[in-house]
Amino acid sequence: MASMTLKKKPMTKDAFLKKWKEHSAQLALADSDPLRLKYHLQPPMGWLNDPNGLCQKDGVYHIYHQFVPFYPDLCSVFWGHVTTKDFIHYEYHEPVLYPDSKWDVNGPYSGSTFQKDGLMFVYYTGNVRRTDRADYDYITGGREQNTVLVTSRDGFHFTEKQLLMTNKNYPSDLSLHVRDPQVFCENDCYYMIQGARDLKAHGSAIVFESENLTDWIYKMRFETDTPFGYMWECPNYIKLDNRQFLIVCPQGIQSEGLNYANINQCGYFPLSCDFKGTDYKLGEFHQFDRGFDFYAPQVFQDESGRWILLGWMSTPDAEYDCEQTMEHGWVHAMTAPRELYVNREGALCQRPARELERMRKNGDSQPFQGSFQRSVSVCFELKVRLDNPTENFRLILRDSAVLRYQDGILALDMAECGAGRTVRGLETGAVHDLQILSDTSSLEIFVNGGAEVFTTRIFDSMERLQLEFASEHAEGTIEYYELTA
Ligand code: FRU
Repeated sequence: MASMTLKKKPMTKDAFLKKWKEHSAQLALADSDPLRLKYHLQPPMGWLNDPNGLCQKDGVYHIYHQFVPFYPDLCSVFWGHVTTKDFIHYEYHEPVLYPDSKWDVNGPYSGSTFQKDGLMFVYYTGNVRRTDRADYDYITGGREQNTVLVTSRDGFHFTEKQLLMTNKNYPSDLSLHVRDPQVFCENDCYYMIQGARDLKAHGSAIVFESENLTDWIYKMRFETDTPFGYMWECPNYIKLDNRQFLIVCPQGIQSEGLNYANINQCGYFPLSCDFKGTDYKLGEFHQFDRGFDFYAPQVFQDESGRWILLGWMSTPDAEYDCEQTMEHGWVHAMTAPRELYVNREGALCQRPARELERMRKNGDSQPFQGSFQRSVSVCFELKVRLDNPTENFRLILRDSAVLRYQDGILALDMAECGAGRTVRGLETGAVHDLQILSDTSSLEIFVNGGAEVFTTRIFDSMERLQLEFASEHAEGTIEYYELTA
């Protein structure tokens, strides 16, 4: 260990602050970008990915996230920190985790917060990439994924990093890819779930058990009967209305008709597991989002008991352009905050957090028959209720971006404004309602109460701001609001 050479030197807070000053001109450059989102969380400069450690403490929501501020110059990863009380006003703070220890020198990777008696237990993956040999594949050699704990009473100040587990503590049939811990409590016992890739390149979510939140023992793993992707990233366990779900991001699934169209997927399995023994049942995987830009969501329960989800509004390794805004020194954003609920069919649904309604301005609601047209602002919310839900329709959303429903298939076609994004579709019985959030460079389309969602970045001129709905016989109501943050 002592002779090991690491690619990166640890980066302390002081070194970070110095670099930040050197790069400060980039802040104004980012701010001047017309594609800058108006009501979504985005990095002040550089790169942002997964939401991490989401929680609400004493009324304040803490949104930590993977943050690479000096991207693409210096790819050091930090835990960026943003707080909000209302999901409309956001305050940006200094990062809370730095790649400053030998356990996380290549980045404090994703993790989550568990609160007990006013104390935040923040678990994350310390990523290490060794460079002392040339032949590492970084799957079975050359990588460390350490489970690290820090605690905090206020979300701003954290204790020393404590190493809880290394790859040696994980089952021996796993590769070195084990990460993204989430901790929860069931039957008065604590459980930690982590995403994993085994030596046969099969993805799974592994579960550890603990009585004291620091000593963890491997208990079991969730996997499908037949292999489903080579790695499951960012697992989240959630129990809502007495139903259990396992959310995962499986990598390496081949597309199948309209399904699994992105390179990396994200969805949930209905789960049944009492965590007393090791029996469990996974139901059918359901894609969480049908659009182009959604990955690594994290869910948490706030102080009122609501389950809230934020996702990374991008996806790794896409064939289309996800770095359009890099000219202005920033890239990626978070989705709007979404509330989760279970519908009558037992599906885990997402809808925009109710706080966002406070951005509504100049709204109106009216019935329509056949078609409607209206001019809109760039930032808008549109709700459409369809009374005859199997009627074909076509809805031009922005410029050439169209949502089409034809013979049971709902498709989002980005045409010229997708920067390489083409078409994504979904076989759906009927479309009863749509709720659409538009921001300068994003669209989030919630279908049938959010049982299905399409999330995408959009890069149009923002000049042709005209909604056009066309059908032969569709009838219903449209509700429109301009949104101001
Ligand atoms: C998912 C992910 C996680 C990892 C993090 C690193 O996007 O790959 O598995 O912890 O990003 O930034």
